[in-house]
Amino acid sequence: MTVTPKPLVAGNWKMNGVRASLQQTDEMGRGLDAAMRRKVDVLICPPSTLLHAMSAALIGTGIATGGQDCHAEAAGAFTGDVSAAMLADAGARYVITGHSERRTLHGETSAVVKAKSAAALGALLTPIICIGETNAERVAGKTIAVVKKQLRGSLPDGVAGDEVVIAYEPVWAIGTGKTPTPADVAEVHAAIRTELGRLMGKAEAAKVRILYGGSVKPSNAGELMGLPHVDGALVGGASLKAEDFLAIIRAVG
Ligand code: PGA
Repeated sequence: MTVTPKPLVAGNWKMNGVRASLQQTDEMGRGLDAAMRRKVDVLICPPSTLLHAMSAALIGTGIATGGQDCHAEAAGAFTGDVSAAMLADAGARYVITGHSERRTLHGETSAVVKAKSAAALGALLTPIICIGETNAERVAGKTIAVVKKQLRGSLPDGVAGDEVVIAYEPVWAIGTGKTPTPADVAEVHAAIRTELGRLMGKAEAAKVRILYGGSVKPSNAGELMGLPHVDGALVGGASLKAEDFLAIIRAVG
């Protein structure tokens, strides 16, 4: 029998949101009933400035919070950075690592992403490690090779299957309204599961939640989330509004 992990729907607010935006998360909290909570884990990753207030406001709603990045060190002279322990102290339970915007705009290599993910584990946070190919890599037929290489390079050593989440996010699908075909998503997710099996053993690999991210919206969430080895979604733009985010959660549950 195959083990299917409980799905996770995670919202990545990126550099969006001020205190007034907590109205949206209040509405999400009210809209998530007990039956949905049983079926789906829900997470919002706001900017660091909102993390403490949002975490406090969401207590009792079943919605967890997370950071969008962390430094690999616990503390020190790193102006502008935030450590995993600080995120945990502000109420976070997860942190996104290696988002393509960090890899591209901040030059983060897989080695950096691995160190950050290990730091997250050290602070008892669950890292959501993002991997995904660019359009040029896709056109060149390199998708599976690129994704596997990023996975091997970014996964902390000795991590257990339920301590980590992987998000497959094709770079060309992020914020563009474009998504891969369901067959392509299924192929990549199956390849990620197989590679995880090689890295951590089959039993642990079966426990890892592999999210799809990139232009997930209410109208495509049902189809994407129904695919084998797709254990939830990492949602950018459509996670900012309660109505859309709740519709995606319903499509998954
Ligand atoms: P999107 O972003 O849903 O707006 O495409 C996804 C992400 O970058 O995590």
